[in-house]
Amino acid sequence: MSLTFDIHRRPDPATDERRAEILANPGFGQHFSDHMATATWTKGEGWHDAVVEPYGPISLMPSAAVLHYAQEVFEGLKAYRHEDGSVWSFRPEANAERMQRSARRLALPELPTDDFMASLKALVETDVAWVPAFGTGETSLYLRPFMYASEPFLGVRPANEVTYSVIASPAGAYFPRGLEPVTLWISEGYARAGRGGTGAAKTGGNYASSLAGQLEGIEHGCDQAVFLDSATHTAIEELGGMNLFFVTDDGRLLTPELTGTILEGVTRSSILELAKDLGLEPEERRIEIEEWKQGVRDGSIREIFACGTAAVVTPVGELRWEGGSAPSTAGDEGGEVTRSIRKALLDVQYGLAEDTRGWLT
Ligand code: COI
Repeated sequence: MSLTFDIHRRPDPATDERRAEILANPGFGQHFSDHMATATWTKGEGWHDAVVEPYGPISLMPSAAVLHYAQEVFEGLKAYRHEDGSVWSFRPEANAERMQRSARRLALPELPTDDFMASLKALVETDVAWVPAFGTGETSLYLRPFMYASEPFLGVRPANEVTYSVIASPAGAYFPRGLEPVTLWISEGYARAGRGGTGAAKTGGNYASSLAGQLEGIEHGCDQAVFLDSATHTAIEELGGMNLFFVTDDGRLLTPELTGTILEGVTRSSILELAKDLGLEPEERRIEIEEWKQGVRDGSIREIFACGTAAVVTPVGELRWEGGSAPSTAGDEGGEVTRSIRKALLDVQYGLAEDTRGWLT
């Protein structure tokens, strides 16, 4: 039987004034709505105790397995307000399915798609006032489902008690500088993931392992780091929180193939679909870092962009590494194709273009 989320409203929600103040300038990941949805899984019993309750501190034993062995997965998706006031999420089933794949890899229980959808619906309906108004820029209610080993136990084995929650955060642009291209640093010393590892799962450890490379990039004046494959250190993988795309001079849209070490982004797969509408030929394959360096110099690579739910589509500018750099092709606001793809995606999400693929729920 699927889960029903009991609603326990908080007695002291944010005032209309405070909420309006936050929604006027939400930033990314800084503010949270009044409620959260939670369900518990116990071995032998399955999922139970589904509630929407006040957003607030969670109580965990210091011995909770997640704090020691990082048995955790998460998701990211957004709810968008359309012009008629209605609220829509973008391909939520794709997030539900990816969370199930991530859970399998981390030996966590799978949350059925219906229950995942019910948790989103219960939280967004309760906190619908937190979805920013239509026409207020690139704003949305960012939804962050996550699941972790809450069992207090220090033996190394899959936890017998697991907690699933969804929190919601009003969001503006991930990069405060808008469409200004991001400068990337090649992380040559640190890999994000290896063959047979957890690279394709959306699990906190992958993000933690990307931070040292990102810090190295920041020390070299870059915004983000690009990670290479751990076996040969020559093939481009991803940025840690975003996938990468390359537009060629002969109308192809290249992106690194999924090898088990790269996150299968929902935005990535949507762009591969949308590319065909824009007359581009999508190509998923191994892309050497040398191809990037060479391509921007000889003009065979015209545009480069990064994408993700949080970052949408962000132009990529200069590439730097220890002792060298390759020039930007992005101008001040990214190339024409980058901007067309970005618009095509946002138009569907905000209800400004027909949803021909049934991506909105
Ligand atoms: C997302 O795009 O939703 C992510 O989870 C990436 C993170 C860098 C915010």
